[in-house]
Amino acid sequence: MPTTNVQRRLAATAGIARPAEPLELYPQLANALVRFIGVGKTYEGAQGPVQALQGIDLTIERGEVFGIIGRSGAGKSSLIRTINRLEQPSSGRVLVDQVDIGEFDEDRLVALRRRIGMIFQHFNLMSAKTVWQNVELPLKVAGVPQAERWRKVGELLELVGLQGKRDAYPAQLSGGQKQRVGIARALVHDPQILLCDEATSALDPETTESILALLRDINQRLGLTVILITHEMAVIRAICDRVVVLEGGQVVEQGPVWQVFGNPQHEVSRTLLAPLQHGLPEELRARLRSTPSTPGAALVLRLRVTGAQAGEADLSSLFNLLGGQVSLLQGGIERIQGRALGNLVVAVSNSPHDREHLLQRAGQWAQRVEELGYVV
Ligand SMILES: Nc1ncnc2c1ncn2[C@@H]1O[C@H](COP(=O)(O)OP(=O)(O)OP(=O)(O)O)[C@@H](O)[C@H]1O
Ligand SMILES: [Mg+2]
Repeated sequence: MPTTNVQRRLAATAGIARPAEPLELYPQLANALVRFIGVGKTYEGAQGPVQALQGIDLTIERGEVFGIIGRSGAGKSSLIRTINRLEQPSSGRVLVDQVDIGEFDEDRLVALRRRIGMIFQHFNLMSAKTVWQNVELPLKVAGVPQAERWRKVGELLELVGLQGKRDAYPAQLSGGQKQRVGIARALVHDPQILLCDEATSALDPETTESILALLRDINQRLGLTVILITHEMAVIRAICDRVVVLEGGQVVEQGPVWQVFGNPQHEVSRTLLAPLQHGLPEELRARLRSTPSTPGAALVLRLRVTGAQAGEADLSSLFNLLGGQVSLLQGGIERIQGRALGNLVVAVSNSPHDREHLLQRAGQWAQRVEELGYVV
């Protein structure tokens, strides 16, 4: 199921494409698969209008795994649902493959939705139908002949590792198996895009890992663009290429995962990512003071380094910059997307430099310096 299918379909849809702008003028957009241009969405709520999205400008590239995070109510689901027009934006435009989907009639919407698969937290399977029938249903609805349907369903059940469960009913499946059925069903029309709204949120960590591996595999083997919403930051870290942070219906931060996770700029991003950061050990936290209680108290700093700098983090240069006695209290280097992320907590004592200069000198070595307090 081959990339050739994907390519064939791309070629077919290119025929109906009405380019929004001539691509040659915007070579940087040649790889754009989904573009949000000034997208806003206002719902009529019981207590008056609710502005769920405002002024969203965002580009999702062909073939990437793109993550969307944000607090509850930030507008994540609203945003993702404008891509297949389950929600109609109140303002702005959504382009899929350079085509504005805002004015699509019913026929073109049906065609669009076949190019965009979707999976959900609660799987949305038909309980009275078997695994096979659940996956076959959308093909039946589309009027695909039986031989073709059977070939496709067989192929997809193999892809998601459920050949042995074809005659089982959803109630007889584990959560992970149900989501595999959901994924197979979402892929029946060889979509270009797979939308995942909290698709692993009802699964245990081990099952989550296997579903993520499957999504990554599909992304790479079929060239499928995956757009996923999750409240689990570890999911983003595990499979996303880029991530956007929404707050109050607006984009507050976006970038490659290694960058946003390594050095989050916005307060919301920092809060969301806090569980991933190494918390201080209880014993050390208990000893921390906000002011130096004795002259010999050590200043405790958290230093973050990302990318190339962390890859060759030179500790001796840090020690030279800080002077005095530097001890490593906690931390290390981990890797995301092949990039190094360093997170070190150090205590500095007997340095010839005062606090202000220490912070400044630490800033020459690390991208972010946080003053945690003093310990004796
Ligand atoms: N159909 C609707 N009618 C009225 N208000 C809505 C509707 N759908 C969403 N909203 C409101 O729009 C805002 C954004 O909702 P949305 O579901 O997009 O958030 P979310 O980021 O997906 O949240 P969660 O993480 O809880 O799923 C919220 O304030 C929500 O209450
Ligand atoms: Mg949601």
